[in-house]
Amino acid sequence: MARPRVLSGVQPTGSLHLGNWLGAIRNWVDLQRSHDTFFCVVDLHAITVPHDPKQLAADTRSTAALYLACGIDPEQATVFVQSQVPAHAELAWLLNCVTPLNWLERMIQFKEKAVKQGDNVSVGLLDYPVLMAADILLYDADQVPVGEDQKQHLELARDIAQQRINSRFGSEETPVLKVPKPMIMKEGARVMSLTDGSAKMSKSDPNEGARINLLDPPELITKKIKRAKTDPVMGLEFGNPERPEADNLLGLYALLSGQSREQVSSECAEMGWGRFKPLLAETTVEALRPIQQRYSEISADRSGLDQVLAAGRERASAVAEQTLQRVQEAMGFARPATAN
Ligand code: TYM
Repeated sequence: MARPRVLSGVQPTGSLHLGNWLGAIRNWVDLQRSHDTFFCVVDLHAITVPHDPKQLAADTRSTAALYLACGIDPEQATVFVQSQVPAHAELAWLLNCVTPLNWLERMIQFKEKAVKQGDNVSVGLLDYPVLMAADILLYDADQVPVGEDQKQHLELARDIAQQRINSRFGSEETPVLKVPKPMIMKEGARVMSLTDGSAKMSKSDPNEGARINLLDPPELITKKIKRAKTDPVMGLEFGNPERPEADNLLGLYALLSGQSREQVSSECAEMGWGRFKPLLAETTVEALRPIQQRYSEISADRSGLDQVLAAGRERASAVAEQTLQRVQEAMGFARPATAN
């Protein structure tokens, strides 16, 4: 039987942080053996807010290099760049024409980002979730491993596939598109900011101290953790709504040290912040050390990375083109005559 298909991606905007790793990429690594996996660097998404053209290609390559450094194996997974497979933009247009505007206007991320952009909100920012739906639907993905913040976008992708494409242009026996399921792990799905335990760790937070980037040097990691927000209570614990910082930092310690929540709860139950913070800093530095080492090797081998992305592009295009054609046919487009 064919292995279930998985697709996911990260935007190449700014540096990837602990949230991206623990909420998404780390889970991808576990899936590559059991699933047919496609991981793209979603560079078309990165231009939905103002961007620096001098930086885009470099950030795209470094994001791909980080996928590999985190353990994505290009022999097992298909790693590619979204803009290099034109079917993403083409399917997005077809989906645009059947997606109601008010479905997009109620997207939480759009509302949050639009506030930050003031008068400068692009059509692309509003349309972003439709492009994301195209990314997923093109690969007939069964599952989409993401962090909690992407849940609403996945529901939208499901609604577009089911209510706007399959029910209008397909039949129950022959659906045009596969309806994907979200895959959101319980742990790591919502890593919070170091400066505010009630806000998500995010690439767009103007305060650098709010996040730990995967490529931060050890001294910087230690400094950020030292300055992380705490509370006056002694001992760390999970699940106390009055203590979001304790919950977040203890959760990070569990994930990064590979221990269970029960283990770290008992280890840190009596520990003051003064002892806990150096422990968390050391654990974080050690967890990121192998990734950083692999990253510098991979980025030094420019042609090796180019080859991975070229092979990924070819494999991804072959799948994406077929799905695009299926949708075009279902929607009634004239197909070019095939030469015989
Ligand atoms: P992006 O680039 O913002 O984030 C990439 C992945 O990291 C997860 N994530 C988090 N997980 C836990 N805690 C956090 N603080 C945290 N911050 C980010 C995200 O949930 C995501 O899984 N729209 C997507 C990119 C995308 C995509 C796709 C994903 C485009 N097309 C198709 C899956 C499938 C985004 O902006 O992710």
